[in-house]
Amino acid sequence: MNTVRGIFNYTFANSTATLHELAGLMTSSHELDNYEVVINGYEQTVSTGLMAVNTDFEDSIILSSSNRLEIVRNVVIKACEDRGDQWLWEGHIAVVADLASGLAAKYGANAELATLGGYLHDIGRTKGMMEQHDSFEATMVARKILADAGYDELTISQIERIILVHEGKYGGPISLEERIVSTADIMSHYRLDFYLTLLRRKYPFGKNDEERKEYYFRKMDKNYSLIPLEAERKTVLPIRELLQVAFELYYRVKGVLDQAKTFWETNQFHSAEQLVSRMLDEIKERYLPSHIAQLHDFIILPFGELSSLYPDSSADIMSAIKVAVFETKARVYRKLGDLHGAFSALLETSDTLHSRAIAFWKMGEGRRSRNVFKMVVWARLDAIEILENLLSSGEPKEFEGTPNLYRRIGEMYESVAEFFIEFVEIGIENSYIRQLRAYERALASYEKYTEIANSLDDPEAIDFARDKKASIEPVRRTFN
Ligand SMILES: [Fe+2]
Ligand SMILES: [Fe+2]
Repeated sequence: MNTVRGIFNYTFANSTATLHELAGLMTSSHELDNYEVVINGYEQTVSTGLMAVNTDFEDSIILSSSNRLEIVRNVVIKACEDRGDQWLWEGHIAVVADLASGLAAKYGANAELATLGGYLHDIGRTKGMMEQHDSFEATMVARKILADAGYDELTISQIERIILVHEGKYGGPISLEERIVSTADIMSHYRLDFYLTLLRRKYPFGKNDEERKEYYFRKMDKNYSLIPLEAERKTVLPIRELLQVAFELYYRVKGVLDQAKTFWETNQFHSAEQLVSRMLDEIKERYLPSHIAQLHDFIILPFGELSSLYPDSSADIMSAIKVAVFETKARVYRKLGDLHGAFSALLETSDTLHSRAIAFWKMGEGRRSRNVFKMVVWARLDAIEILENLLSSGEPKEFEGTPNLYRRIGEMYESVAEFFIEFVEIGIENSYIRQLRAYERALASYEKYTEIANSLDDPEAIDFARDKKASIEPVRRTFN
């Protein structure tokens, strides 16, 4: 076991324990599974198995190597959080570290060094040096992090080199671990979600669609030949091909939506619909189902971009367009076979319709308000239908299994009933019967949920079902 000794500052169970006390506790009670320990200001959960007390030296503690790695990992996560850039961790650094550790296993390299290199190679970016992060400054930051975690001088200098050479500014990678981290760094860019994020952020800024795409591929192709482990180069080629299709689809959908937008804006809702549905048919004809499934997010992204152009809660043409976008999105999701997506899009539709109905009512437009209100309920019922179809098809996995599906359906019917209450109260609607029916459906679904909850002996679920019954029953009684 790799061991290291360091000066640590521990707090234990909200009070500070001396190392001596902690050591006594750990040697005497091995039943304790996890300790919440603060090491140099960073919270760690340390399991007994990973921590052993060096009884020769009263005031020192030995941490296993996985622990040190964990400390560094948490420091880097926190640095990303402090910078407000969750993505830098999730979308890049964690990906590079994973790839590096995989490559280390494949090439028989030092996995701890490669993973550490992955964690720390872009530490400069967390210190506000996003674009031209200077690798030299970054090494000083890394040095401190590593020393605090208890790494020795040899490891520290090896990581410093990994950081310095990863961008080629201070010479190229030489050792196997240096080549692995540099390879992982470049390979991390050949990923669908990497480019999805760039597209979402409209990066690089100030460019148009064509220029952006060109920039992405130029960068990809330039980096390709810079992958230090030559055998790995060919592994990124299929992704490059897939990305080609991804961008094609993204810009195609975007272009059609731009056209549809002008139809929507001039009240030609039917023409807009036709345009989008023709595009979808064409996509389904031209591309493999497996491609469509993988590139689904690229097809949907333009809908999100479009809907964000229109502000909420107004009765004007903007909200009508927003509704149309959501409805179309729901249809696209359904055609792509993504029922989860279709369900959420229908909820977005009915929520937007809801504020639209209220806005019309406030403007004294009773008839329009009533019409829109009907659409609110239809959209909800459509969403419920998706859930009910899933139930009867015996494929409820998408919504975390049958019990949750029943619970979801109950909640949905309840929301329909609440819509009715609200609209009856302000005078838009006068149908108590439909309100009652919605409650009865909700109750029926909660009852199914209760049955399952009882058979699973799940106390939380049983409580939930009982509360629901207790709150709905009295409402139902007042109708009878
Ligand atoms: Fe970098
Ligand atoms: Fe990087």
